[in-house]
Amino acid sequence: MKQRKIVVVLGSPRRKGNSASLAEQVIAGAEAAGAEVVSFYLHGMTLYPCAACDSCRRGAWRCVQEDDMHLIYPVLREADALVIATPVYWFTMSAQTKIFLDRCYGLGGPERHALRGIDVGLVLAYGDSDPFNSGAVNALRAFQDAFGYLEAPIVGMVYGSADKPGEIRANTTLMEAAYQLGQTLAQRA
Ligand SMILES: Cc1cc2nc3c(=O)[nH]c(=O)nc-3n(C[C@H](O)[C@H](O)[C@H](O)COP(=O)(O)O)c2cc1C
Repeated sequence: MKQRKIVVVLGSPRRKGNSASLAEQVIAGAEAAGAEVVSFYLHGMTLYPCAACDSCRRGAWRCVQEDDMHLIYPVLREADALVIATPVYWFTMSAQTKIFLDRCYGLGGPERHALRGIDVGLVLAYGDSDPFNSGAVNALRAFQDAFGYLEAPIVGMVYGSADKPGEIRANTTLMEAAYQLGQTLAQRA
């Protein structure tokens, strides 16, 4: 079987936070199953919001903002799967994650979008004990709509409650689910 390429996007400023801890498990599972994984820690990168200039849709046919998104674009274009790990901030995904998603607009129109049909994994952490009260459902719904538009299957979602950085590691069921998601993404035909 061809080695699968997986991109992991980390949307929390906390490098050792809860969504990052779950993402680490996804990566471990994926690598154990033979995948090649490349991760991007968004908070450490210079990423501007989409300027809506539409240069990516005509003229330049590429995003003309010169920032670190150009480190991510070529890797995304080659990827078989995309994992987005985000904390819930103000009842939805983090701003870092939203900027990344907006900038994916630069990967083409819906028919020829580079992420069209890509396998997707979602990883979320939130402080409230309930996924509805926390706003995690808003983030999940936004991802469902975005990847539905791109006809990209959401292969798995791993989400749970924790507050202090890394606290989520105590939730062994969730950690195992994250590892399993990595294995599944690595092994899909
Ligand atoms: C700016 C900010 C906004 C937050 N908003 C929410 C929220 O709306 N709902 C919630 O349940 N938790 C909220 N939290 C708590 C985080 O989601 C929680 O601490 C989570 O574990 C952080 O994940 P991380 O360690 O991956 O960053 C917020 C935290 C911060 C710093």
